[in-house]
Amino acid sequence: MENFVVSARKYRPSNFKSVVGQGHITTTLKNAIKNNHLAQAFLFCGPRGVGKTTCARILAKTINCEHRTADFEACNQCDSCQAFNNNASFNVHELDAASNNSVDDIRNLVEQVRYAPQQGQYKVYIIDEVHMLSTAAFNAFLKTLEEPPKYAIFILATTEKHKIIPTILSRCQIFDFNRIQVNDICEHLKYIAGEEKIEAEEEALRLIATKADGALRDALSIFDLIVTFSAGNKLTYQETISNLHILDYDYYFKVVESLLAGSISNVLLLFDEILKKGFDGHNFIIGLSEHFRDLMVCKDPATVELIQVSDSAKERYLQQSQQANMSFLLSALSLCNQCDIQYKSSKNQRLHVELTLMKLAKLPHAISLAAVAQEETKKKA
Ligand SMILES: Nc1ncnc2c1ncn2[C@@H]1O[C@H](COP(=O)(O)OP(=O)(O)O)[C@@H](O)[C@H]1O
Ligand SMILES: [Mg+2]
Ligand SMILES: [Zn+2]
Repeated sequence: MENFVVSARKYRPSNFKSVVGQGHITTTLKNAIKNNHLAQAFLFCGPRGVGKTTCARILAKTINCEHRTADFEACNQCDSCQAFNNNASFNVHELDAASNNSVDDIRNLVEQVRYAPQQGQYKVYIIDEVHMLSTAAFNAFLKTLEEPPKYAIFILATTEKHKIIPTILSRCQIFDFNRIQVNDICEHLKYIAGEEKIEAEEEALRLIATKADGALRDALSIFDLIVTFSAGNKLTYQETISNLHILDYDYYFKVVESLLAGSISNVLLLFDEILKKGFDGHNFIIGLSEHFRDLMVCKDPATVELIQVSDSAKERYLQQSQQANMSFLLSALSLCNQCDIQYKSSKNQRLHVELTLMKLAKLPHAISLAAVAQEETKKKA
């Protein structure tokens, strides 16, 4: 069997340019290299899987590269770059503070810092999850961080910036990494699918991107998982929703259709079908709220961009939003919201959701009655 390399490793960016969605950081780092104005201590903050370690390694590689490109990227060819790419460079040291957080671990590191690099210009120390270091370890580290030798660069990374003590914060140049936008993740997945010769439906990739919640690594892991389960080289929307156990958004469209038609029976039957498929009533109501929100956002051309769906799906949202008026959407959102808040304390949760659905189905009628009444009073006045 061919050796399977997970996509997150196989497609680890090899230069600044290929890092997705962190332009503000890669540009600043490149400029610092260009102007020879590199800080000696950095703090990379941000959620998991958005490129902190990746950027730290690229920085280490780039500043040690023997033939940097005109664009201040690593050449990926010189001996130093190759050593980095094979994880064999002596100029980069990684310490995972989550598992090595004692004073001794830091003392070891501080000891190493005393030796200048044999080859290349810089030694880079990456300390991951730096907020996990014990107070004593922090203190043992402070002096080195304060006055590091010229060849040493420290990159501290953390997912929890608020846990970093001020003495460290004030000694570092701070970079805040973004969660990655659904669109950017989607594009990246499309590229990888292309490289892997996998025919992927855009809707499927979008779903994965949404599920990953801003973390590119998670998106790649989910992608691998579903590709493994799928037969052949196809990745379909249907397969993805069943694998991820996500409710097909088609249901929300159907539910709203029935609501607008005022059909209580239809909507109860749909809800029954959803429960039978093993979905949870609470998630359904939250999903329905999001659907109402998306319809509302589609009402105004200025906000249409706020829905993050594929072009074909967007058309469907636009159509349905035309059929629902603003009063309906606002009241519907508020009813769903109440249902969501009270869900946990309800003794009969199924009935609780059903009651909300019944009220929702009566909304269009109630709203039109109210409008008629208003007209009448206007006429009389
Ligand atoms: N911004 C990004 N651009 C491209 N790939 C990324 C990005 N962020 C994460 N990845 C992918 O996820 C993997 C893990 O990223 P990593 O840099 O270790 O994340 P972090 O250190 O922020 O948790 C990388 O090898 C890469 O495949
Ligand atoms: Mg990391
Ligand atoms: Zn090089």
